[in-house]
Amino acid sequence: MSDVETATHEHRVFPPSEAVVKAAAVSGVAAYEALCKEAETDYEGYWGRLAREHVSWKQPFTQTLDESGAPFFKWFADGKLNVSYNCLDRNLEAGLGDKVAIIFEADDGKVTKVTYKQLLALVSKFANGLKSIGIKKGDRVLIYLPMSVEGVAAMQACARIGATHSVVFGGFSAKSVQERIQDAGAVAVITADEQCRGGKNIPLKPIIDEAFAMGGCESIKNVVVYQRTGGNIPMTAGRDLWLHELIKDQSETCEPEWVDAEHPLFLLYTSGSTGKPKGVQHSSGGYLLHAILTMKWTFDIKPDDVFWCTADIGWVTGHTYITYGPLACGATEIVFEGVPTYPDAGRFWKMIESHKVSIFYTAPTAIRSLIKAADVNPAAHPKNYSLTSLRLLGSVGEPINPAAWQWYYDNIGGGRCPIVDTFWQTETGGHMITPLPGVTTLVPGSCTLPFPGIQAAIVDETGNDVPWGQGGILVVKKPWPSMIRTIWGDPERFKKSYYPQDFQGKYYLAGDGAIRDKDNGYFTITGRIDDVLNVSGHRMGTMEIESALVANPLVAEAAVVGRPDELTGEAICAFVVLKGERPTGDAAKKMIKELQDWVGKEIGPIAKPKDIRFGENLPKTRSGKIMRRLLRALAKGEEITQDVSTLENPAILEQLKG
Ligand code: PRX
Repeated sequence: MSDVETATHEHRVFPPSEAVVKAAAVSGVAAYEALCKEAETDYEGYWGRLAREHVSWKQPFTQTLDESGAPFFKWFADGKLNVSYNCLDRNLEAGLGDKVAIIFEADDGKVTKVTYKQLLALVSKFANGLKSIGIKKGDRVLIYLPMSVEGVAAMQACARIGATHSVVFGGFSAKSVQERIQDAGAVAVITADEQCRGGKNIPLKPIIDEAFAMGGCESIKNVVVYQRTGGNIPMTAGRDLWLHELIKDQSETCEPEWVDAEHPLFLLYTSGSTGKPKGVQHSSGGYLLHAILTMKWTFDIKPDDVFWCTADIGWVTGHTYITYGPLACGATEIVFEGVPTYPDAGRFWKMIESHKVSIFYTAPTAIRSLIKAADVNPAAHPKNYSLTSLRLLGSVGEPINPAAWQWYYDNIGGGRCPIVDTFWQTETGGHMITPLPGVTTLVPGSCTLPFPGIQAAIVDETGNDVPWGQGGILVVKKPWPSMIRTIWGDPERFKKSYYPQDFQGKYYLAGDGAIRDKDNGYFTITGRIDDVLNVSGHRMGTMEIESALVANPLVAEAAVVGRPDELTGEAICAFVVLKGERPTGDAAKKMIKELQDWVGKEIGPIAKPKDIRFGENLPKTRSGKIMRRLLRALAKGEEITQDVSTLENPAILEQLKG
């Protein structure tokens, strides 16, 4: 039985304890229902009230929602604010200047604490430095940095001067960086000499140089380099600048640039079902509001909490729940440079113990791999650590299978901490469907119910609601403040991808299938309904990997599908036709390695297919269409019991078996 099936048949329930209900910001089912009701009766009034209560505005807005250009919705459009002001200055004004904002733990275990006052000074110097090299409001800045205080500060500095950042995860290749520089028309890059992961120093700046060597990066005037390791890397005179030199003499004050609520705070590239990754554009006001609200309601953040989101700032989770949400709430948070398995697989648990983490937010893949690691190395088992500081756990990025959920609940949460299984996407800016700790009776494997005000629903192909208990397509019926505003430079693709005509352009299409429990209406996500894979919580387009494979001169044709994987959720499986002869034995092994490395170079190591199989052809219909359902069955190792009568070349199936 698949995890999804087990989740929908899951009967164990975990109601919140009285103490948790009592202490929570949203306390009890009635409070949740009252919020939902308020949103239903006066949608704009609800969001307007929250935006006034939780965000600090330089100039208040007079209109909450402008639907005149639907589906290009505007929220709080005539309001002015600055996101960095909301994350830093206002905490100082509230007397939190000496509170620790960031506890940074380096790969080698070294800990640095930064107070709000110090962070504001650093961000201001950084912002002034960026201004001094001509970066101004509306410019795009590509950030390619490791997990660091400087990474958070770089994003905040952009926000402070109204520059739009586009963070690229440090695991992406030079080619991916080059494509993103070009698409965004970025004027500067902020990177580091090297990054430290698992005891190794890995070059970063040289990847930027490689991207430049590919050409087409002329829009970039400067590359600002944070010296992380002191590794010996080449600097191009006139273009490359050391961060420490750039900011050395800058003032510690920098007046924030007051921007319109709709001003693009950031672009974040993510995979879709077709073509190249798309630059998801987020706003300032609406995005910030949801980052704050979800911190307060889903994570129930309190002044004494130590919050730890283990994501990288290269993903949306790191944007919302490291760079913006926790700081906008004046919280203390952990920023971790390293990997969960170095120096051993007890690293997370050791850090929770030593920093007294109270809220811990991670991905199911990490949990599954640490369960396995604890089996192999009993010393890395969480029982060896004191995790009593924890009071709330979170999960994100992919479905959490009930077995992993239960392990997380028992072994990390000590049977005491609610788990918030938060469903959301790069495009949604923050949580969409999630338990609230003081409200929701948890069911392992279900993300339960929509965040108050989010009009999530499950419909059929024509947009009609399906009854509870029946699977369908997940949509959001009304716009919400933190939603994607457009795809950078491609508004048509935005409309087609997210507001398709199947639903008369009225509903936001999430791209996931879902089902509601027939008794309590709880949502369970059943997986993507497009050609997007989810590998270790990372989103990959099958077409993107196929394009990378066929760019290899030896490859004639390639088709990529996902198959379930115990550890990573899904694994990438590629079926490849070479221009030359079909290799077998050692020649095949060598070619597999070569193609895996090729994809690693083209996109990044996370896109390397785990499984590559060679055929003289791919299974196709007589009209030449690749039969992907057969490939999916082959990838899973299933016997082909499906109808193959439309298949032109049935003999090929034998070759493509694993
Ligand atoms: O398929 C869903 C899955 O991850 C996709 C979004 O990926 P991305 O934009 O990279 O953002 C990940 C972090 C927010 C979704 O379309 N997904 C995300 N969270 C969950 C999930 N699937 C099941 N349960 C979740 N909690």
